[in-house]
Amino acid sequence: GGRVGLLLMRSYVLAGDTGHYDGVIAALEARGLDVVPFFSAGLDARSSIERFICPPGSTRPTVDAIVSLTGFSLVGGPAYNDSAAAVELLQAIGVPYIAAQVSEFQTLEAWRASTRGMTPVETIMGLALPELDGAIAPVLIGGRSTEGGRMEADPERAATLAARVEKMIALRRTPAAQRKLAITLFAYPPNAGAVGTAAFLSVFESLWNVLAGLQQQGYAVELPEDVAALEAAILGGNAAQLGTPANVFARVPAAEHIAHEPHLAEIEQQWGAAPGREQSDGNALLLLGAQFGNVLVGVQPSMGYEGDPMRLLFEGSFAPTHAFAAHYRYIREEFGADALLHFGTHGALEFMPGKQAGLTGDCWPERLIGDLPHYYLYAGNNPSEASIAKRRSAAVTLSHMTPPLAQAGLYNEWRELKATLARWHESPSDALAAAAQAQAAALDLAPSEPQWADPQAAIAALSPLLAEMEATLVPHGLHVVGRAMDRAEAQALAATMIEAQGSAAEASELVEALVANPELDNILAALDGGYVAPVAGGDLLSDPAMLPTGRNIHGFDPFRLPATHAAREGAVQAELLLARARADAASEDEALPESIGMVLWGTDTLKSGGVPVAQVLALMGARARFDGYGRLAGAELIPLAELGRPRIDVVVTLSGIFRDLLPLQIKVLAEAAWLAANADEPEDSNFVRKHALARIAAGEDPESAALRIFSNAEGAYGANVNHMVENGLWEGGDELGQAFCARKGFAYGRDGVARAKSELLDQLLADVSCTYQNLESAELGVTTIDHYFDSLGGMAQAASRHRDGAGVQAYIGDRTGKDAKIRSMREQVALETRTRALNPGWYEPMLQHGREGVSHIEASITNTFGWSATTGQVEPWVYRQLSETFVLDEAMRRRLAALNPTASARMAHRLLEASDRRFWTPDAETLAALEAAGDELNDSMEGIAA
Ligand code: BEZ
Ligand code: MG
Repeated sequence: GGRVGLLLMRSYVLAGDTGHYDGVIAALEARGLDVVPFFSAGLDARSSIERFICPPGSTRPTVDAIVSLTGFSLVGGPAYNDSAAAVELLQAIGVPYIAAQVSEFQTLEAWRASTRGMTPVETIMGLALPELDGAIAPVLIGGRSTEGGRMEADPERAATLAARVEKMIALRRTPAAQRKLAITLFAYPPNAGAVGTAAFLSVFESLWNVLAGLQQQGYAVELPEDVAALEAAILGGNAAQLGTPANVFARVPAAEHIAHEPHLAEIEQQWGAAPGREQSDGNALLLLGAQFGNVLVGVQPSMGYEGDPMRLLFEGSFAPTHAFAAHYRYIREEFGADALLHFGTHGALEFMPGKQAGLTGDCWPERLIGDLPHYYLYAGNNPSEASIAKRRSAAVTLSHMTPPLAQAGLYNEWRELKATLARWHESPSDALAAAAQAQAAALDLAPSEPQWADPQAAIAALSPLLAEMEATLVPHGLHVVGRAMDRAEAQALAATMIEAQGSAAEASELVEALVANPELDNILAALDGGYVAPVAGGDLLSDPAMLPTGRNIHGFDPFRLPATHAAREGAVQAELLLARARADAASEDEALPESIGMVLWGTDTLKSGGVPVAQVLALMGARARFDGYGRLAGAELIPLAELGRPRIDVVVTLSGIFRDLLPLQIKVLAEAAWLAANADEPEDSNFVRKHALARIAAGEDPESAALRIFSNAEGAYGANVNHMVENGLWEGGDELGQAFCARKGFAYGRDGVARAKSELLDQLLADVSCTYQNLESAELGVTTIDHYFDSLGGMAQAASRHRDGAGVQAYIGDRTGKDAKIRSMREQVALETRTRALNPGWYEPMLQHGREGVSHIEASITNTFGWSATTGQVEPWVYRQLSETFVLDEAMRRRLAALNPTASARMAHRLLEASDRRFWTPDAETLAALEAAGDELNDSMEGIAA
């Protein structure tokens, strides 16, 4: 039982057009819930909520949950949104606030049939804006079957909404001692060394703290003695005996799976007869993890295609593996969880096939999550992926901090070089110049011979390099949920934050906010099933408003994006890129690039208020257009006289995440390209038009000739270049570029609709002068995760593949420091290698987190390799120095092997693969040492597994 406040739109009630409402009320009542329907006289629902739900003088709300069926903001409805006011009220009431959607701009049939789901405007009004109020668990409950017909409910969706509300209320009412909680960890990329890792998070230490916190709250947790015991229970147990990457907590015999899996036919079509090959012993599915009393900690099975990316080359349609489906079915039906907590950033469930937004019961994420109350611990700097988790799997995200950032500083021989340079500046001499050259050569900064002809000039060139390196901010280890930062750490971080913002922020307030971190308490409170306050995803460095963590992450209001300040910054960034591209131009006249390939992601777009969108517009000589309400309405061209340079052609590939989250911006970008292509302007002042006219002359229709905005097919994400590289599934020809064009070759036009145009993308990229992407944040370098080389690397490979040998430059825009910079990939990888991978100030804090730290180091090496594979922009010294530091140094090798034998062996093999593929050419002695080390690491890995 329980009581639900149901907020309705007055207009439908007054018109008596309430079929959709009636359907929801019936579904809620069928579950034994009392429904209190009410509506508000105006656009601001606060006074009606106060009147019907928390009458003056009442100490407790009269309902257990509030469900809004309006599909709009709580304060402002369709006209405006005052989310601060909404949050204040909802926080005072404290019950979950669920916002359902109504199909207002298309018929129910059109919605059901579409792969996209909700329309762009519905996505903003119905999802993005209510999220700013802290709304959760979106479900599209109804609309009209035919245009002009009457409103009706979608019975399956209404039933799902009712089931979710009932479960949420039940969670609130179940005493902690009786609650069953499922926690799911990840293993990404899927390999044994990476089980239980997540971006920025020390997973097992955090998990232990959360389990201990749960126990204190009264949950029946059998708490392992310490973190090591927890790790041993999950990763050890019967793993060695069964040859699995973690303990097996349940065997699901094939017959049982066949009997209980409702979507068996679809899974078998993709993965063969049950139980299939993934996490299977041939007779049964093996579910990984361990149970600790009423808390079941499982390991999410992999998507399955990562090891066989060709399976997914073109389209998005596929099914999860037998193991994946069984994992979640077990949690729901066998274990009988009251709630599920996904532990850390970037799982796979919410990226399973289905509509982008406004999912139906037939979409895979909905099938997997069902009506289970879903919580998701997520890095607070990732509003884009967090939004996908919220919209596609009904998750309440709970933000956690990212690790503190500090200046990389100089280490070992770098310090000596700096001292030598200082001495040379004091009193230059041939001896000091020779010493400086020798030290620089040892660091691969200069050739060891011939001797510098002009030491003054050589040293003048080195100094800024050292200064940049020393000042670059790098993350310090991994974040531990439930471990408070000490005051000294907090003071250092606050100083870094204040310097980065260049503002006179209150240092003492920041320090208190960092020390007080109520993250764990907020997470435990959220699991009691109340209202969780929302927070805009942001970077710790520039957005102290991301504190306190433990809140439900959302993005930026898409109607306001690009924001005014972002438009300015985007224009600056556009000119910086043009200046760099001109300076690097091979030709004498430093020509402007006529065409640029650019990758856009959701995260930095949302966090910056839309800088990358503004940058594309600025390059094309366009800007965003806003309507009388200040809402984004389209694009317009900047007159050529005002622009002062030609319009640059831009070929854009969007991440699947961007595509899902910012559909209106897609239309605006496509409109800008179309306007430029159709402007009556000279071709040498408008390269978009020049190239479009050439295509039309070659027989293309004018609409297609102006298409410039590409992404995946609807429901699909990523280029798969990362998986091909990680699994060695490429020969070294242009397969990676081909895969990129196949996966990303869906053009999104002015109508926002996708068309398969992979050949067009291929042709457009063949003509770009360079490729470009903005760095997402100071935390996430291009060697931290495999998605940068998947997107920008894939694009650069596709652009290079038709010009034998002449690689197209990949640039990175870095706005994370005080001065915005553009770096070539060669410079960016070198900088990250020196400030991170080779820097004890980076890897020692990582290694404090043991096994997980080694896995992150291994990932950075594999991602570096990914840049060689896609761009060839990694200098050989990078591999030599990585080998020396992590594999050839015996003490370090043994240390890593003891912490994480699997990841250590992968590291050695990746460096050897880099040599096989001629990314570097170790001398015979080094190669032999590396091979011997690889064999030794294999043995230690097998020793552990045996
Ligand atoms: C995005 O926000 O678009 C994104 C984030 C992480 C990886 C790839 C894309
Ligand atoms: Mg991925």
